[in-house]
Formats: sequence, C-alpha cells, structure tokens
Amino acid sequence: MKIQLPRGTRDILPEEVAKWHFLERSFEEICTDYQYQEIRTPIFEHTELFERGVGDSTDIVTKEMYTFEDKGGRSLTLRPEGTASVVRAFVEHKMFGSPNQPNKLYYKGPMFRYERPQGGRQRQFHQMGIEALGSYDPAIDVEVITLVMHFFQKIGLSNTKLVINSLGDKESRLRHREALIAHFEPRIDEFCADCQNRLYKNPLRILDCKKDHDHPLVQSAPSILDYLNEASTAYFDKVKSYLDAVGLDCEIDPTMVRGLDYYNHTTFEIMSVEEGFGAKTTLCGGGRYHGLVQEFDGPETPGIGFGIGVERVLLALEKAEVIIPEEKALACYVITAGEGTAVKAMSIMNTLRQQGISAEKDYQDRKLKGQLKDADRKNALFTIIVGEEELASGVYKLKDMKSGEQTAIAEDAIAATISKKLQTLKEEHQ
Ligand code: HAM
Repeated sequence: MKIQLPRGTRDILPEEVAKWHFLERSFEEICTDYQYQEIRTPIFEHTELFERGVGDSTDIVTKEMYTFEDKGGRSLTLRPEGTASVVRAFVEHKMFGSPNQPNKLYYKGPMFRYERPQGGRQRQFHQMGIEALGSYDPAIDVEVITLVMHFFQKIGLSNTKLVINSLGDKESRLRHREALIAHFEPRIDEFCADCQNRLYKNPLRILDCKKDHDHPLVQSAPSILDYLNEASTAYFDKVKSYLDAVGLDCEIDPTMVRGLDYYNHTTFEIMSVEEGFGAKTTLCGGGRYHGLVQEFDGPETPGIGFGIGVERVLLALEKAEVIIPEEKALACYVITAGEGTAVKAMSIMNTLRQQGISAEKDYQDRKLKGQLKDADRKNALFTIIVGEEELASGVYKLKDMKSGEQTAIAEDAIAATISKKLQTLKEEHQ
C-alpha cells in the first residue's frame, strides 16, 4: 500500500520554501531589532508540563495532545504550543537570576494539536513566537504587540485587525468566575457535556466552547471588563494609552478569552480581515501570564508573549496577493562540451563556490543545447563554456544570460569577473 503523509500534516516543497525563509528571516530581523534572542526547546516534553501549564480543562490538553509513552515508561507529549516549554527552560536554567531583565526570547518551529484539519488548521503547524519574562511594565505589553504588528507590516500584510481584552488579576477573575457560575448554573443542562464539566472547574472555558458558541447565554454572559478591580482597570488603561502613543488602533472585545488557561491582564489576537479568507482568520494570539513561572517552581515572575501561525500567515499573504522576494538567483552555470572538459568544469565550479558564488553544472550527460536549457530553467545569471578549444587555450567564454553579451576571460579571472558583475547587478537593483 502506498504510504501517504499523516492527516493534518503537510510537506513543504522546495518551490514553497522561499516563502518560509522570507517569513523566518523577517521575523528574526524584527526580533533582533527589538532585542529578543532565540531560544530552542525540545519538540517533546513531559506531559505534565502542558497539563499544568496550558491547563487541564482546556481543549488543547483534554482533546488535542499527541501523548505517548516512551520505552522507559515516561509519558511524553509533542508540544502543542511554545510558552510552557520556554517557561520551563527559563526556570530550569535560572534565567530569572540573569542581570539581563526582562528576558526577551523568541522561537519558531512545529507545534502539534489533534484538531479537525481544514484550511488554516493542521495537526502539525508552525508558530513563530516571543516571550518576555520578568517585567510588570504595561509598556512591554505594547512592545510585544508592536513587534508583531511591525512584522505583519514588514512582510506586506496590511489588512489586519488588532483585538485586545483584559482578563484582570486573580481577584478580578475570581469575581468574574462567580458571576459566570451564577449566570450559567440555572440552565447548564442546555449545554454540552464538556461545558457541564467546565461550570465549576473553569466557567470561562464555556465562552470558548466550539459547540455552544451560539447559545444565547454565551452571548449575554457577564463581561470580564465589568469585574476588573481598580488595579486591573488602571493596568488596562495604561496599556491602551501606550497603544495610543505608538499609533496602534485596536478593538476591545470583552468576550475574547483565549483557549489557554495561563492568561491574566492583557490578551490579544490579530486577525486577517482580507476578504474571502474563511473562518480561521486568527493569525496571532497572545497575552500576559503571571502564574506560570511559579507553577513550574520558579520565583514569582510575570510574562507576556504571542504565537503567530505561520501557515495562516502564508494563506493571508496569498489572499492579499503579496509578492514574496525570490531567493538569491543562481550566479553561474558551467557548461561542458567535449572530451575531458567535465574535470575542468568541476574545478571551475569548485573555485566559484569557494568564493561564495553560487554555481551549478550538468550531471545528466546533457548535450550543449540541453545544458543551456537547464541553465535557463535554473535562472542562471551567467554561463561559462568549457569546450575543447577553451581547454587548450585556457581562455573561457563568460556569457551574460540576460543581455547575451559574451566576454573571453582567463581561468584565474573567472571568479573575480563574475563577482564584479554581480556587484554591478546588485547596485543597479538598489
Ligand atoms: P494560540 O492562540 O493557541 O496561542 O496559538 C497561536 C496561533 O497559532 C493561532 O493564532 C493560530 O494562528 C496558530 N494555530 C493554532 N492552532 C493551529 C492549528 N491547529 N493549525 C494552524 N495554526 C494554528 C498559543 O499557542 C500561545 N502559546 C501564544 C502565547 C505565547 N501566549 C503567550 N505567549
């Protein structure tokens, strides 16, 4: 039987990879400008990390985790998100003791959730994210949001909408929780079994339920913003005034609760408002979390971050018809024609590559015409022809594939000549 890729996964083929490089490079550049450093954590972790971190009443933990037992009998889980792992590493490596506070970290890589696959929703998907650990300053909330908005702007995605909310501090959330229980309790039997379980465990999750989303009680549920205490309101006001200061428009949506349990105070999502983009429009989600470091036995440390869904960003770029810059073109194709020329071609190509000039040759025993076609297909900027005559004279023909202009040059001048021509092309482009 033919083996196909698992449901909900995708191969990223060579012709698509330039787009991934473009997004990853743009993200790395922005993170560096904002002084975030990369962190790489394992793809699997102890299951408990996500149960305690993401929350054992969330859909992610109860329904979507790829959990398995390894040969040593340990329960491990493929990471469904990046925050819990980053916080674990932060505690494990005592980064809270570093003089470099807040710790500003970024990451990228595959995440795994057992969800029903559809456009923009996969079982293996990719996130690029950041976490800033160690600051209570509302200005950092806005730095984090600005960074991702700046990223979208840099890659050419302008049709986005920023939505924010505040889940307040512990006291505010407790008061809101009581109000939610009182609101849903009398009619909880009209809700799905999951929501019935959630009522006393974590009633906020009812607002997030995919099945009961349209129930009138969900629509009329008490708003968290009415339950924020003074300190939480003041915090949210500061975030809004910083957003104002950097000129970012946003919509406040008190029903936005996010699907993970660790949040408090600021939460945000960025949607694509590109027409015809379909249901899964959330490109990025994030927020503040104050209890997570302690949950993993570290000292009280606040955090804030976000995760961007790379596949969704690619879909949005496609819908917006954004043209992604091509990868560096092939500089030189070395063509052979005749007896004994292949060895010389190999040595010329090697010299070019050693000098940082991209080079390619034929390995399929093509005739001269076939090699020229191959050079064309590969968009080579120049070709060098190595024929028997050239071999004997030591003078080679360098052809500019665009203009058709040919120059005769000695072997030891090939690399320098191409280098110079590439530089001229680059300057013409700027
Ligand atoms: P999240 O909202 O679960 O947050 O995921 C962030 C983004 O990942 C989503 O907005 C979406 O673009 C993408 N995403 C999620 N699930 C899928 C899927 N099945 N297929 C394709 N894309 C998906 C988090 O993961 C938090 N760790 C974000 C965060 C960081 N909060 C604080 N720090």
